[in-house]
Amino acid sequence: MNDAYAQAGGLLKAARALFVLTGAGISAESGIPTFRGPDGLWKNYAAADLATPEAFRRDPELVWEWYEWRQSIIRKARPNPAHEALAALEKMSASFFLLTQNVDGLHRRAGSVKVFELHGNIFRTRCVACGALADYRPGEPRFCPCGGRLRPDIVWFGESIPAPVWEAALAFLERCDTVLVCGTSGTVWPAALVPPIARRYGSKIIEINLEATPISKTVDLSLLGKAGDILPEIMKFLL
Ligand code: OAD
Repeated sequence: MNDAYAQAGGLLKAARALFVLTGAGISAESGIPTFRGPDGLWKNYAAADLATPEAFRRDPELVWEWYEWRQSIIRKARPNPAHEALAALEKMSASFFLLTQNVDGLHRRAGSVKVFELHGNIFRTRCVACGALADYRPGEPRFCPCGGRLRPDIVWFGESIPAPVWEAALAFLERCDTVLVCGTSGTVWPAALVPPIARRYGSKIIEINLEATPISKTVDLSLLGKAGDILPEIMKFLL
């Protein structure tokens, strides 16, 4: 395995512009549940009842209850060595872009700066009437000064992702030479498009995941195991 870590370290060291894509797996070791897999949230909860605009119109209290439960888990969580390694990698990189599907804010808490959140942030609210964004305030009425209802600022099933974030990601993918994909099942669009787009542009692709995913056979280097174990090992080859 040491050879593979050295190879990954070599690729990251040689990168002139590095794009990183993360998913729920990178926060798993912080105690935040992932979505798919045996203990995944979508095994025990129905996305249609909790993570769609229709569900929110039908029963906003139920949806808020679920998001506040998830907030409570995330508040207690700490960034893990995988988040910390990516923050260190950013500092060493000439040009860096981190696209995350996670809404937990742990990358920023670990010190990452160029973080682009594709699916929103669980600690932000959005007014369904005027679209105003605000920090979530526990215990306060979930209504905007305009009178509209506040919802979590999360991209739900059937909704569009924030166009500026995706456009920035596409622009960086066009000019980067190395892509690191970490802790994502790679099944949710548009994040699932990152590896094929990167390949088309000729980037080297490294994947870190507990298990093989649909992209594993197509990448230059697939490292199987926990991100919190593997990333710090790779970093040793960058120092
Ligand atoms: P998933 O739950 O679909 O996948 C998590 C991935 O992380 C799986 O491939 C696991 O094998 C891997 N994994 C788990 N623990 C790991 C560890 N310690 N180290 C490395 N890999 C590990 O999560 P995402 O792919 O992020 O959207 O899901 C994408 C989106 O689907 C989420 O953002 C969410 C969901 O519906 C919204 O809520 C908007």
